[in-house]
Amino acid sequence: MEIRTEQATRTVIPSPLPPKHAITLIINGVEKKLEVATWTTLLDLLRHELDLTGTKKGCDHGQCGACTVLINNKRINSCLTLAVMQDGADITTIEGVATHTGLHPVQQAFIEHDAFQCGYCTPGQICSAVGLLNEGQANTTDEIRDLMSGNICRCGAYPNIVKAIEAAKSQLTALNLKK
Ligand code: FES
Ligand code: FES
Repeated sequence: MEIRTEQATRTVIPSPLPPKHAITLIINGVEKKLEVATWTTLLDLLRHELDLTGTKKGCDHGQCGACTVLINNKRINSCLTLAVMQDGADITTIEGVATHTGLHPVQQAFIEHDAFQCGYCTPGQICSAVGLLNEGQANTTDEIRDLMSGNICRCGAYPNIVKAIEAAKSQLTALNLKK
């Protein structure tokens, strides 16, 4: 007896991609109206769609701090947040840290204290240091080390990074006292 198996022919219709979402971000002081896919991280949006490549991708898993930016003046790992979650936020990347009068005191201190080697971690370190000083919490060297512990430097420039942050903190305190 002959047994015949007929294979059904199936047509696979690709499902359409979900629609993009309209969001508005203030990036380095400039308002941007954007259409973003819901799965786009803030880090990928900055680097791939806005060409702000100063923010670095290290681990892409929240473990190295290379992608640190400031959102509403607070530090955040941009690889761990979706762009759509930040609708309306005020974002500062390393490209926006300097002011019209020159480098930010943290940037200047990093240069003066030789606080980087390859420089890959440096944008994240600087954004994190600026955020930390905004928070007003780092009152001792140990507190600076502790509060910067989420930013990894594979070159091991830590002692000079801490010195640079201490110097920038003193300078910012002196400037505030003069006001
Ligand atoms: S790339 Fe975001 S924490 Fe490492
Ligand atoms: S300066 Fe090279 S990783 Fe920090």
